[in-house]
Amino acid sequence: AWRKETLIGHSYESPKKYDGKRYGGYYTQDEVKEVVQYAAERYITVVPEIELPGHASAAIAAYPTLGVTGKPIDVVTSWGIFPNIFNIEDSTFLFLEDVLTEVMDLFPSEYIHVGGDEAIKEQWEASPRIQQQIRQLGLKNEHELQSYFIKRIEKFINSKGRKLIGWDEILEGGLAPNAAVMSWRGTAGGEAAAKAGHYVVMSPTSHLYFDYYQGNPGNEPLAIGGYTPLQKVYSYEPTPESLTEEEAKYILGAQANVWTEYIKTPEHVEYMVFPRISALAEVVWSPREKRNWDWFKSKLPELLERYKLRGINYSNSVYKIAFKSVLDSVNGTLKVVMGNELGTGEIRYTLDGSNPTKNSSLYKDGIHLRETSTIKTQVFEGDMPLGNIEEQRFIVHKAYGKEPQFTHPYTIHHFPTHGLTLTDGMLGSKLTLFSDLWQRFNKVDLEATIDLGKTDTIEMVKARFVSIPHYSIVPPKSLSVQLSLDGKEYTKAGAVTRGVAVEGNSVWEYEVNVKTLPARYVMIKAENVGSVKSEKTGKFKDAVLMTDEIIIE
Ligand code: ACM
Repeated sequence: AWRKETLIGHSYESPKKYDGKRYGGYYTQDEVKEVVQYAAERYITVVPEIELPGHASAAIAAYPTLGVTGKPIDVVTSWGIFPNIFNIEDSTFLFLEDVLTEVMDLFPSEYIHVGGDEAIKEQWEASPRIQQQIRQLGLKNEHELQSYFIKRIEKFINSKGRKLIGWDEILEGGLAPNAAVMSWRGTAGGEAAAKAGHYVVMSPTSHLYFDYYQGNPGNEPLAIGGYTPLQKVYSYEPTPESLTEEEAKYILGAQANVWTEYIKTPEHVEYMVFPRISALAEVVWSPREKRNWDWFKSKLPELLERYKLRGINYSNSVYKIAFKSVLDSVNGTLKVVMGNELGTGEIRYTLDGSNPTKNSSLYKDGIHLRETSTIKTQVFEGDMPLGNIEEQRFIVHKAYGKEPQFTHPYTIHHFPTHGLTLTDGMLGSKLTLFSDLWQRFNKVDLEATIDLGKTDTIEMVKARFVSIPHYSIVPPKSLSVQLSLDGKEYTKAGAVTRGVAVEGNSVWEYEVNVKTLPARYVMIKAENVGSVKSEKTGKFKDAVLMTDEIIIE
C-alpha cells in the first residue's frame, strides 16, 4: 500500500526524476462500506476490480511467494505495465480466493472485475516451473495459461453467486464460459464476445478514455496522451453495426475510464470528466435516432452553468480556440482557420502582439499570412470574454502551404495530422507532443518532395526532430537535400549527419546549408534508424521519426 517515492512528470520523461516522498494508504472495511452505501443511495453500483494475473506488482511486493521469480520487489514508483505476474501454485489461488471473498463481502455488485489486461507473459515464458505446469495442464502456450487462470477464478466467483467481468485480453486463449467482457483496446473484442453470446461493456480508448486530452494539449493540463474531445465522445455508438439484433442484446452499455496517474486532485478528476460524462450519458441513455450533436451543443452553455452552480470544476475546453492551416482551394494558398468545438461566440484577433479586445478584428473564414506572424485570439459573447487568450506563431517560409509528396506515408497517432502538417508554419512544443503539430514516420524514412511552384533561390533547409526513448522516437541518422529545376533531375545540395548517440528526451535541430542554389523542387530525406531498444519494455521496436515542420529558406 506504500511506495517509497513517485515519478515527477510524465512517464515518457528521460532521465526520470522522483519526489523522494513516501506515499500510500488504504481504505478500512468501514470506509469501503460507506462508499458502497453512498453510491447505492444514488442508484449506483460500485464494481470492484482486483487485477490478475498481471498488474500484480503491489501484491507481489507484499508477498514475493505469489510471484514467478520468488524475488522480493519494491512497490513500483512510476506508471505503466510491469512484468510481475502471479504464479499458478494452489497457494496463490487460495490467497486470491481469500482476497476475492473479502471483496465480495464488501461489494454486493453482481459483477466482480478481475482485470486480465496487459499481463506481460515474459516471466511465465522464462520460468521452467511454469513451463512444466503448462505441459502438465495440457495447455498450448501462455495465452492458454492466462485463460486457465481466469477460468479457475471464474469458477470460484460463480460459486459465490457472482459473475466475472474482465478486459478484452481475457478472450485470448479462450474466454471463460460465463464471463462478461469490457472492451478497451477498440471494439473488436467486444464484438467477438457478443457474437459468442457473452455480455459486453464497451470502453474503447478511441472514444471513452477521459484521462486523454479533450482539447489542444498546449492549452490543457498534462495528461497521459490521446485525444477524446467532447464531440468524439458524443459520436460514440456502443452497439457495433456488425451485430444482429439478437447479438446486440449482449451489449450492456458503455463505460468511460479515468485513470489517475496524472490526476492528483478530485478537482482535476472533475475537469477531465465534465462535460464529457454528460455526452456519454446522452449516448447510452437515449436511442440512436434521438442523438444530435447540434442539439446537444445548444444545451451545453446551460449545462455548464448548472455545473458551475454545483461547484463542479468542469472543463471549458470546448470554448478554446484551435488553429488549423487549410488550403484555400480558390487561390491555392494556405489560410489559418480558427474555431472552437462549440462553434459559438465571436472570435477576435490581433497580429501585432497586442491582447485582443472586443474591438479587435473579427475573424470570419480564414486568415492569409504573408509573413511570419503571431496570432492572438479571444472568444467574446457580446462584451464578455470566454475562455482564455490563445496565441500561435506561424513561420511563413518558402515551403509554407506547399504540400510535400511523401515516398512513405506518415502515421496517424491519435491526432489527425494531414498532408500540410509539415509546411503549415506551426511548430510544436513539449506540451504539444501529443497533438496534430507533429508528424510521425514509423520505421520508414521521411522522404518528401516539395514543389515550390516557381524557381527560387534556396539557402537553407531546416527540420527539428525529437528524441523520446520511452516511445522509441529517435531523431534521424542524417538529413539530406537534393534540388531540381524540372522535378526530374536532382542534384545533391547538402547533408548533415547526427554522428552522436541520442540520450534522454531532447529536441534536435538539423540545418542543411544549401549554398544558394536555384531550384523549384526540393527533395529531403531524413534517415530513420529503423529499430531501437525501447526504454519502456527493453525490447527492440520500430523507431519513429517525429518532426513538426520542414522549413525552407
Ligand atoms: C486498461 O486501460 N489497461 C484497461
